[in-house]
Amino acid sequence: MAKPRNSRHPARKSSYSTMVLTLLLMFSFVVLIILALGILSMPSNAPKPHDLTSLVRKTSDRNGADGGRGEQWVEVISWEPRAFVYHNFLSEEECEYLIELARPHMEKSTVVDSETGKTKDSRVRTSSGTFLARGRDKTIRDIEQRIADFTFIPVENGEGLQVLHYEVGQKYEPHFDYFQDEYNTQNGGQRIATLLMYLSDVEEGGETVFPNAKGNISAVPWWNELSECGKGGLSVKPKMGDALLFWSMKPDATLDGHSLHDQLLCFLPEMIGPPYPLSPFFRFKFEFSDP
Ligand SMILES: *[C@@H]1O[C@H](CO)[C@@H](O)[C@H](O)[C@H]1NC(C)=O
Repeated sequence: MAKPRNSRHPARKSSYSTMVLTLLLMFSFVVLIILALGILSMPSNAPKPHDLTSLVRKTSDRNGADGGRGEQWVEVISWEPRAFVYHNFLSEEECEYLIELARPHMEKSTVVDSETGKTKDSRVRTSSGTFLARGRDKTIRDIEQRIADFTFIPVENGEGLQVLHYEVGQKYEPHFDYFQDEYNTQNGGQRIATLLMYLSDVEEGGETVFPNAKGNISAVPWWNELSECGKGGLSVKPKMGDALLFWSMKPDATLDGHSLHDQLLCFLPEMIGPPYPLSPFFRFKFEFSDP
């Protein structure tokens, strides 16, 4: 008598759990359908600024063909600040093209006023420069796409390309690329990273120097080629076609004080003047902002 009662109880329990399972399954289907609808409706009405398909295409395009750029490799030169050198990022033709494009439009460089956020003249920065509109021709679009591929930051976040020209004795004193004023951080967002491309060689000096960098500054492969004052910090020697990427923000999104850097302070007074053989030095700058 006790046996059937005992066996009926588990049977009732199992039909109950079947019902719960069925309900759960139905609920899951409803959730899936809602998700599917949500996913399907998103791309059709929103632009796709961060579509990554082009990155995949570009990567496979470039396998095998170097576009006349020679051997390319990337070197980590520092983690504080995060800084990387991409060798032969631009071809010689691209460097010359950019210089010729910019040459007729060079104007004295300005700096951002940390109080008003507006640009102003400064003795701190004595180079000349010009901006190139984003996507203005095929060469520029190719380079912008290459920058996006290397940095994993979409082209849309770029500020547009700036070509800078330093004559002997011109300089940009130690500075941060991130904004310290409210005007710029609220209109356009904080600057997160900078990519510098060296468009010409320099015989001596002209290094980009990070005086606050942590680590062994003499471990860079080009240490013996640096000028005396280039050895005062972590230095990158300008070489035509090379690109330097450094981050102004740490991975936790705070500003990185190690990203302090300067340009071309490494000319001693006696080096400045006609007897010193030096080709004018071009630098191509691309900065990324938080959207
Ligand atoms: C720094 O790096 C250089 C070159 O790799 C090495 O010879 C030197 O011993 C290093 N110095 C320190 C303090 O680690």
